[in-house]
Amino acid sequence: MSTLITNVAELVTNAPEHAAHGAGGAAGFGALTRAALVIEDAHVAWCGPAAKAPPADEVVDAGGRAVLPGFVDSHAHLVFAGDRSAEFAARMAGRPYQAGGIAATVSATRAASDAQLRAGVRRMAGEMLRQGTTTFECKSGYGLDVPHERRSVRLAAEVTDEVTYLGAHVVPPEFGDDTDAYVDLVCGPMLAACAPYSRWVDVFCDRGAFGADEARAVLAAGRDAGLVPRVHACQLGPGPGVQVAVEAGAASADHCTYLSDADVASLASSGTVATLLPAAEFSTRQPYPDARRLLGAGATVALATDCNPGSSFTSSMALCIALAVREMGMTTQEAVWAATTGGARALRRTDVGHLTPGARADVLLLDAPSHVYLAYRPGVPQVAAVWRDGELVVDTRSTALR
Ligand code: NIG
Ligand code: FE
Repeated sequence: MSTLITNVAELVTNAPEHAAHGAGGAAGFGALTRAALVIEDAHVAWCGPAAKAPPADEVVDAGGRAVLPGFVDSHAHLVFAGDRSAEFAARMAGRPYQAGGIAATVSATRAASDAQLRAGVRRMAGEMLRQGTTTFECKSGYGLDVPHERRSVRLAAEVTDEVTYLGAHVVPPEFGDDTDAYVDLVCGPMLAACAPYSRWVDVFCDRGAFGADEARAVLAAGRDAGLVPRVHACQLGPGPGVQVAVEAGAASADHCTYLSDADVASLASSGTVATLLPAAEFSTRQPYPDARRLLGAGATVALATDCNPGSSFTSSMALCIALAVREMGMTTQEAVWAATTGGARALRRTDVGHLTPGARADVLLLDAPSHVYLAYRPGVPQVAAVWRDGELVVDTRSTALR
C-alpha cells in the first residue's frame, strides 16, 4: 500500500542536502518547497518536487500545508497518579520549586491500581499523538520501591520502546537520610526487576536528589545490566550532573539549566546530547537554559517536554518549540530540528526525526503552510493529520478539506 502526500507547501525532511543557508538557517534542518512525499507501508519511499512525484495507490492533497517528521519527545514521566495543581498554584504565588514535591506523586502512584495507572499512561500517550508526537520516551521514578518501579516500567513498555528506569529519582521518605541504602537497592534488586523492561537508566543528579558518586554508581550498575545512561543534570543549580553524564557516555544530559563553561565544553566535545526542557522552566519560573551558548559551542541540542505532574505538566512539543524560539534565542529551524532529529539523537535513533527514503513513516501534516507557525501561532492546535508507521492515526481535517 502506497500513499502520495502532495501539494505540500513545505516538506521538512531534515536531509542535509535540503538545508537552507542564510538567516535563520540551522545545521541539520532541511526542507523542500512545493513538494511531495510517498509512504510505502511503514516507511518513506520517496520525497521530492511535487511535479515529479511518482504514482501511488492513494493520493492525499495537503492543500498547501506543511509536512514535518513526527515529533520525538525524548524525556517524559508519564507513569503517575495524583494531581499537583495546588503545588503549581503555590509556586505561582511565590513558593520555589523543590525536588521534594516528587514524594507527593510517589504516594499517589503507589496507591493507584494497575488499571488506573495504565489508563493514565494511555491517556497521556494519546494526548501526545494528537499533538504530533510519534516517538516518546517514558520514565519510571514515582514508584521508588521494587514492586512499584517494576510496575512502572512494565506499564511504560506497553506504550513505548523507549523505557527509562529512574529508580534514582529521589530517596523515598521511608529511607530517611539513608541515601546509601537506597542507592544499594536501586543498583541491586530494583535494577534486576526493572532492566528486562527498560532500555535506559537515568538518575536525578541535583540538589535534593543524588550526588556525583551516587549517580556514577547508579549509571555503572545500569550499564552492567545492559542499559544506556541518560542523566537529569543541572536543573536546580550548578553541579556535577553534566560531567557525570559525559564521563558515563550518556546519550543525553537533560535540563542543562545551570551550566559552567566546562559543562558546555564537555557537551560540545562528546556524543552526549544536551536536552533542553523549557516547559519545566515555564512551570517552575526558573531561568531558561542558554540554548545559544550550547549551539555556539557546537553541542547537539534536543527539545523535549519533561511531561510530569510536578514541574512540567504539558505534552506539547509545539509549546516547547515556541518557548525555545521566543525565550531561548533558537531560530524556528533550530527548534524544529531539536524537536525531531535532535530528539532522535538523544534516543540514539536514526529511523525517526527525518523524512528521507527509508525513514519510518511518522508524518505530521500541519494545518499551516510552514514550520514557522509552530512558534508564530503559540497555543493554537495546528495538527491536521498524523501518520505513524505509515498508518493514518490522527485526522482532524474536515471532510470539505480532504
Ligand atoms: O524532570 N527533575 C526531576 N524530575 C522531574 C520532576 C518531577 C516532579 O517534580 O515530579 C523533572 O523536572
Ligand atoms: Fe524529568
